[in-house]
Amino acid sequence: MASFPPSTPLHLFLFFSISISISILPISESQQLQGVCGLEWDPALCSTSGKILIKGGTVVNAHHKEVADVYIQDGVIASVRPNIIVSDDVTILDATGKYVMPGGIDPHTHLAMEFMGTETIDDFFSGQAAALAGGTTMHIDFVIPVNGNLSAGFDLYMNKAKNSVMDYGFHMAVTKWDETVSEDMQIMVNEKGINSFKFFMAYKGSFMINDELLLQALERCKKLGALPMVHAENGDAVAEGQRKMIELGITGPKGHPLSRPPLLEGEATARAIRLARFVNTPLYVVHVMSIDATEEIAKAKMSGQKVIGEPVVSGLVLNDSWLWNPEFATAAQYVMSPPIRKSGHDKSLQAALSSGILQLVGTDHCTFTKTQKALGIDDFRKIPNGVNGIWTNLRYGLCANNKH
Ligand code: URP
Ligand code: ZN
Ligand code: ZN
Repeated sequence: MASFPPSTPLHLFLFFSISISISILPISESQQLQGVCGLEWDPALCSTSGKILIKGGTVVNAHHKEVADVYIQDGVIASVRPNIIVSDDVTILDATGKYVMPGGIDPHTHLAMEFMGTETIDDFFSGQAAALAGGTTMHIDFVIPVNGNLSAGFDLYMNKAKNSVMDYGFHMAVTKWDETVSEDMQIMVNEKGINSFKFFMAYKGSFMINDELLLQALERCKKLGALPMVHAENGDAVAEGQRKMIELGITGPKGHPLSRPPLLEGEATARAIRLARFVNTPLYVVHVMSIDATEEIAKAKMSGQKVIGEPVVSGLVLNDSWLWNPEFATAAQYVMSPPIRKSGHDKSLQAALSSGILQLVGTDHCTFTKTQKALGIDDFRKIPNGVNGIWTNLRYGLCANNKH
């Protein structure tokens, strides 16, 4: 994962300077999953002296929380302790009764991504603005190669990210496999700061690579010291499931979850984990959506294997009932892959997150308008896959994790 500072215009930096480093969360409301930032936009946030004191909040860090003041100078936290006395030129924000915590990191987003014949509607500016409003101050997006070419993909995404207003980093998707791709991976790692690569076991006919290639890719990651990530669904079986649904005359959004049940996610997760063990490399499983996949991750971890499981907000808090909504536009909004599962998977994912079987929360923010989703009005296979959520990560990640 490469990370880059934002190319932030000055006025935006001032506007966002509070959110960039910390989030302020109303204590009483946090338990009810309401408002994260607690501070509305206020011109007073534009401190002319560049000095801000956040006073009297409950400061939450990794290991403990305490009532303290946070003193910020030129966008950098200079001091955290109770009762800081400051001069008159410091802007004081009263955070009494609120949590003050580091901004969240969303490790899985897709801004301005070309996918399924269209492009996600949030670009780096609008997506990041939403993230900041929710207390997320850094995200990691996925570079999508251009016709399989990694270097061209990297350049394209550096350009897309020019209108950034917060910190970001990149994983890189690998959408085809050959010698050039393998060589380019080394350039990405050594020269561009990319150290995590995502491989697709699904999306047959577009991004999917087969086991032979996945094995080579895992070997390559191991050699480069990079972290392989997998989208774990059995793409061949999904294609067959989709064919069956269409044959049965099921063309609407409910065909999506019916064609790719949890067992196909469990199977691919198990396969990827075993191949990673065979190669002896760590593995990161993105968007874990089911009990089936979670159980495979739990087993691997119990045996001492290094597997990182990433649930996403939609999987943690939603169930598939939305996909059965008779209104196409409503149901289509919830079409993503792997699919949002039946009630029960959500609670299991939360429990696995709480107990450390799953380790971090992403959003897989990948937004399409109703018009874009309507590309699949006659055939669920053409509904662009993806849901929103970039502003929810801190809120739901913390609550599902249940540690505060
Ligand atoms: O449906 C999804 N998840 N869309 C984004 C692409 C991906 O597979 O992460
Ligand atoms: Zn994926
Ligand atoms: Zn994704």
